[in-house]
Amino acid sequence: MCGIVGYLGKRNAADVIMDGLAKLEYRGYDSAGIAVLSDKKLDIRKHSGKLAVLAEDLAKDRMEGNLGIGHTRWATHGEPTDVNSHPHFNKDKSIAIVHNGIIENYMELREELVEDGVEFLTQTDSESIAHLVDKYYEGNLLDAVKKTLNRLRGAYALGVIAKDSPNELVAVRKDCPLVAGVGNGELIVASDVTAILSYTKDVYYLDNGEIIHAKDGKIKIYDFEGNEVQKETVHLEMDLETASKGGYDYFMSKEVHEQPAVIKETLERRINDEGTIVLDSINITKEELEKINRIYIVACGTAYHAGLLGKHAIEQFVKVPVIADIASEFRYADPIIDENSLVILVSQSGETADTLSVLREAKKKGARVLSVTNVVGSSIARESDDVFYTWAGPEISVASTKAYTTQIVSLYMIALDFAIKKGSISRAYYDHVLGKMLELPSQVKEVLKGEQQCKSVAEKLYQSASAFYLGRGIDCSLAMEGALKLKEISYIHAEAFAAGELKHGTIALIEKNTPVIAIATQEKLFEKIVSNMQEVRARGAYVISIAEKHNTSVENTADDVIYIPNTDDILAPILAVVPMQLIAYYASILKGCDVDKPRNLAKSVTVE
Ligand code: AGP
Repeated sequence: MCGIVGYLGKRNAADVIMDGLAKLEYRGYDSAGIAVLSDKKLDIRKHSGKLAVLAEDLAKDRMEGNLGIGHTRWATHGEPTDVNSHPHFNKDKSIAIVHNGIIENYMELREELVEDGVEFLTQTDSESIAHLVDKYYEGNLLDAVKKTLNRLRGAYALGVIAKDSPNELVAVRKDCPLVAGVGNGELIVASDVTAILSYTKDVYYLDNGEIIHAKDGKIKIYDFEGNEVQKETVHLEMDLETASKGGYDYFMSKEVHEQPAVIKETLERRINDEGTIVLDSINITKEELEKINRIYIVACGTAYHAGLLGKHAIEQFVKVPVIADIASEFRYADPIIDENSLVILVSQSGETADTLSVLREAKKKGARVLSVTNVVGSSIARESDDVFYTWAGPEISVASTKAYTTQIVSLYMIALDFAIKKGSISRAYYDHVLGKMLELPSQVKEVLKGEQQCKSVAEKLYQSASAFYLGRGIDCSLAMEGALKLKEISYIHAEAFAAGELKHGTIALIEKNTPVIAIATQEKLFEKIVSNMQEVRARGAYVISIAEKHNTSVENTADDVIYIPNTDDILAPILAVVPMQLIAYYASILKGCDVDKPRNLAKSVTVE
């Protein structure tokens, strides 16, 4: 989502703004821009792509000046192009604005302004704001902004500056975040405190319907009627790292708890008013889809585990054979790839070396490459034919959590879209699955309420030398992710098994109190996994089962049961993984490990 930063003070405004925009990168964006009052002119630079592109421009030609506004844009109205990027400005570039949010009545404003003779340069809803401020500007910027606000419907946080007023910054908050930091003779406004904390810890938390105005060394806050609002600054004790953790002890905990919101984001960004998935950045036509006779899903680690679930969904919905493989194996396996193959790569970072090399190899062999990634502008995103962004926001903890659940949701959406285009599922079934997927954010929230139970399970297993994860069907793929989470952050040896394979060898390892996490979410395999639970329990295992809440009979066979809400079998992993993430998290804490930075591991593996 868009991020804004504005600065007025004694420092170089561009430096403060660029630093702030970098802190807001996690919000997701596709272009960035900045306006600085320099030499009595508004110097405005804006570029599509990563902030680095804008930084390069500034490195070549530095911006000097103490007043400015900046923006990272996540496109809603109009493509992510240079021209559509913010800041937007009026006809003679004497007023510049940045906007986060959506102006609902922008069409009618646009028509009115066009009648007034305004020529619009962009397709954005935001440009109207710059022209409206211009329309009402008669030498008093604050008044012009207030008049403009009376005309806007929708949600917005704004930053406004004018060429004629070098010591004035106006910012507004209505239904979009905005915080104002007050330093020594300076004001910094931003979408969140992380962009401010390096400069000051004294902040005004603006409420909806408030305007903050800095002019000639004075800072005042007004409501939209123009009444002055008396407000105290809050002195923040937190440092930058704590602020970025949003009050959680570790990034992993924050990221686990962000899952309801990010799953919602991944889903809702792609579903239109008719309840249809719109994959705007994937341009595979029905005809092209019909030619695809084999799909490969290739990835590493957690992303590979998400890919395994994607395979099930694509095979079930699209009825095309899918091979899911690990990138480090696939790249040397000389796979049969041709122009009728589709290669789907899954990568949170978009930079994983093995996955990237598969991409290049697949393209050489003529395959179409679609990537599911979280990082806009990453190498994998740039080199793929089609990209589906997971929009999970930055994942800082090495242990992947929210990236995993959003990768699964993304792959399922792709599967549903391909299937409805090909006609391999009915519209009724499509609507049913999508409807169930839309329930996931609130269901994950419900699962998170069971955090204390996960903590007490962790207390029971954290001293064990090893743990086993069992599942059948897609629960088996999920078991692999559960085991990986536990081993990578708690250093407990953990292995995942297809429950039916146990008696072919692994059961020899079960002894008194060996923790066995048995995932039992697949309706048609429920009785089978219960039998496997009995087998290990008879040999002394301590059995923890994860099951849907209607399957209470599981209590007869497990020592602990963690219930998840009822859902369709194919969606259950998205709920059932959450307790496993939490068990691993608490086991790691109890063992005194570094939760976010486990030994020997890096977040992004850019070497083979
Ligand atoms: C899992 O918790 C790990 N961080 C790791 O397995 C990760 O998923 C893998 O390295 C792939 O990374 P990517 O998604 O950035 O490509």
